[in-house]
Amino acid sequence: ALRLRVREALGAREPADAVRVQGWVRSVRSQKEVLFLHINDGSSLESLQVVADPSLEKDLTFGSAVEVQGKLVKSPHRMQNMELQAETIRVVGPCDIWSFPLKMRERHPLEYVRQFPHLRCRSNTLGALLRIRSEATAGIHSFFQDNGYVHIHTPIITSNDCEGAGELFQIETSSEAKESAEKTHFFNVPAFLTVSGQLHLEVMAGAFTHVFTFGPTFRAENSQSRRHLAEFYMVEAELSFTESLQDIMQVMEDLFKTVTSTLLSKCPHDVELFHKYIAPAQKVMHVTGKNCSPVIISYSEAVEILKQASQTFTFKPEWGCDLQTEHEKYLVKHCGEVPVFVVNYPYDLKPFYMRDNEDGPQHTVAAVDLLVPGVGELCGGSLREERLPFLESRLQRLGLTDAYQWYLDLRKFGSVPHGGFGMGFERYLQYILGVDNIKDVIPFPRFSHSCLL
Ligand code: 4AD
Ligand code: MG
Repeated sequence: ALRLRVREALGAREPADAVRVQGWVRSVRSQKEVLFLHINDGSSLESLQVVADPSLEKDLTFGSAVEVQGKLVKSPHRMQNMELQAETIRVVGPCDIWSFPLKMRERHPLEYVRQFPHLRCRSNTLGALLRIRSEATAGIHSFFQDNGYVHIHTPIITSNDCEGAGELFQIETSSEAKESAEKTHFFNVPAFLTVSGQLHLEVMAGAFTHVFTFGPTFRAENSQSRRHLAEFYMVEAELSFTESLQDIMQVMEDLFKTVTSTLLSKCPHDVELFHKYIAPAQKVMHVTGKNCSPVIISYSEAVEILKQASQTFTFKPEWGCDLQTEHEKYLVKHCGEVPVFVVNYPYDLKPFYMRDNEDGPQHTVAAVDLLVPGVGELCGGSLREERLPFLESRLQRLGLTDAYQWYLDLRKFGSVPHGGFGMGFERYLQYILGVDNIKDVIPFPRFSHSCLL
């Protein structure tokens, strides 16, 4: 018998005589004359209807793994194309419905299934999310490959703290961990899990002009918030021969629009599930629209807007202070619940690599953050300081000259104006799907169940 995935069976044009479908039972309905089953194998949101003789029902419970052989025929029902008329049903793995935490025909809330990180992928919502996540990953790679970017695997273990924010996980071998008194390092120097691949991308942008990376990133920051994770995926791009922030913003916008429309065309039902049950649909439509451009405001304008707000903030808005989540939310609302680019941040707020705008002595840098409704900061980027004297004096003041000799070399040998950005992949998913908690857009919510996960 021809083995078919559920998706293939549902999409078949022609009936077929001997087919075999494997999957998990999503519903069982037994009538006097006939038994109806729905089988799902993760290949689509929709399950395949199986029609069988009631005598085949033995051990067929919700959640059990089965293999069905039979005939694929046109379904008499308007809502579905094909159904499978079973000749044999083999229960590959039974499932005890009394102790199985998922229940038949129930829409379990995300908070509920989060308690079962090893089983939640069998729910409709997480199934849809994980297919979307997979398509989005492929879409991001295609976007960059189609636009001539070279993909670089940047290191996960590194000794640089790109962002300089001290949110690092330091790594050591298990024997180093035991000998706490006298520290030796496996790599001779302290090593960390990467917080960003940017500096490595800058190296590569000195040879390829357009590069990107898309990998795991680690930050030792509050992962209890609804938008922070200790381990997350970041998409980063770096472009050489780029002199304006506008060019960087254009790539962010194109990436967002292209990947989002790919998702809407490749897995419309999965996306629809979120828009129907988790968030209202119109939310992302305006951003994917061709003639919609995000609003651009400067950091200084943003602070003025916040100062004039009638709302009182926990953190008083002040020029020179970081924008807090409450500020980001207000700005997005003020601009009409659309994506907002905030540009030109204070020099002292931002990492050493950002380019001095020379609008005063060390006043602002050419930085850009993209803020979106519901989530806040989705992307962060900048022009990089490509001028050797500017970079040298900044590193000097920070006492980082020795550590960054290699980075200074990039400014000595064929330096070009360049810039780039990073987009948080989970925040992207949160935004387009309207998911409130970032833990619901990752395959395995960490530290929630057992040490194995
Ligand atoms: O703004 P960030 O810190 O920028 C950088 O790391 C730059 N070096 C990127 C670059 O220019 N190549 O991080 C980029 C994005 C943020 O805008 C946010 O979406 C996401 O990464 N992000 C997080 N997502 C989930 N959990 C966290 N703890 C995150 N920290 C940052
Ligand atoms: Mg940032």
